[in-house]
Amino acid sequence: MNRKRRSKYSNSKKSNKALMITLLVVGALLSALVVWIGINDWDVNKSLKQIGIERAVKQPLIVEEPEELEEPEMEEDTEIVELPPVTEETVDEEPEAEVKEEPKEIEKDVPKTPTPKDEKKSEGITPPASQNKSGYIEGQILPDEPTYVNGVLIANKKYPLPSTFAPGESKEAREAFEEMSAEAKLSGINLTAFSTYRSYEYQTSLYDRYVKRDGVEKADRYSARPGYSEHQTGLAFDIGEVNYEKHWASSSFGETEAGKWVAANAYRYGFILRYPKGKEEITGYMHESWHFRYVGKEVAEEIFKRNITLEEYLGLN
Ligand code: DAL
Ligand code: ZN
Repeated sequence: MNRKRRSKYSNSKKSNKALMITLLVVGALLSALVVWIGINDWDVNKSLKQIGIERAVKQPLIVEEPEELEEPEMEEDTEIVELPPVTEETVDEEPEAEVKEEPKEIEKDVPKTPTPKDEKKSEGITPPASQNKSGYIEGQILPDEPTYVNGVLIANKKYPLPSTFAPGESKEAREAFEEMSAEAKLSGINLTAFSTYRSYEYQTSLYDRYVKRDGVEKADRYSARPGYSEHQTGLAFDIGEVNYEKHWASSSFGETEAGKWVAANAYRYGFILRYPKGKEEITGYMHESWHFRYVGKEVAEEIFKRNITLEEYLGLN
C-alpha cells in the first residue's frame, strides 16, 4: 500500500517535472520566435525567408490552380526581379484621352502581307482613341465581339475581348505545340506549356494581385488587364522546360538552350514570340521570352522572317 502510494507520489512528481520542462522549452522557443521576428522588423515573411522557408510563403501567390502553374510573373525571383527600370520615355501620357467605343469588328480588307507602307496605317480600320501611359484607352468598354483582322484574332491593349469570350485552349494550337515538343525532344529538350488558356475571371484575379504587389504602372508592363489578355483567346502558350521551373516566366528562359531552340523554331509550328525585345511600344508589353502565340504556319513564318510583331504584320501599330 505504502509502496503504491509512494510510487503514485513519485509518478506525479515526475510528471510535474516533465510539465515544468515542457513549459520552459515552449517558453524559450516562443521567446526566441518573438526575438527573431523582432530582429526582422516584425515582418513574418522576412523572418520565415531568413530561415529558408521563403517558397512556402510565396507559393500561394504563384500557383492558383494546382493543375497549372499560373501567372509566371508572380515569382519574385523571376520576372519581377528582372523588371528593367520603368522609364518615362516609353508612352506619352495623353492629357485627355477621348473615350470611344471599340469597333466590334474590323474590316477584313487588310492585306495578308502588308508592305512596310501599309503597316503604318491600314485603311478601313478605325484607329482607337489615344492611349494612356500604359497603352490603354481609359474607360474603354469591352466589345461584344472579338476582333479579327484579316482572319487573325487580335487581343492587345487597343483591341480587347468580350468578357464572355471563353473558347478554352485551342485544339489546333495544342496539336502544334505537341508536334513542336516532339521535335524538341529529339534534341534533348523537354518542353511544357505552363500557362495557356485563362478565363476573363482568372485574368482578373491575377492582374489584381500584381497591381497590389507592384502598382498599376509596373503591372501593366507585364500583365494584361482582364479582357485584354491574349491568354483569353486560348492561343497563347507560355512555354518552359520540364524540371526547370526557375526559368519559367523568366527572361532567363531566353538564354537557355530550350529558350533559344523555341525562339528559333516555333514559327515552323505556327507560333510567334509575341513580345520581343525592343518592341514594347508596339506590343504594349515588356519582352517575354516564354510567351508564344499561335497564328498558323504561314503567318508565323512571315512574322519571323521579317522580324516584326503581330501588330506590325496586321498594320495595327
Ligand atoms: N503576360 C501577358 C501580357 C498577359 O498577361 O496576357
Ligand atoms: Zn503569357
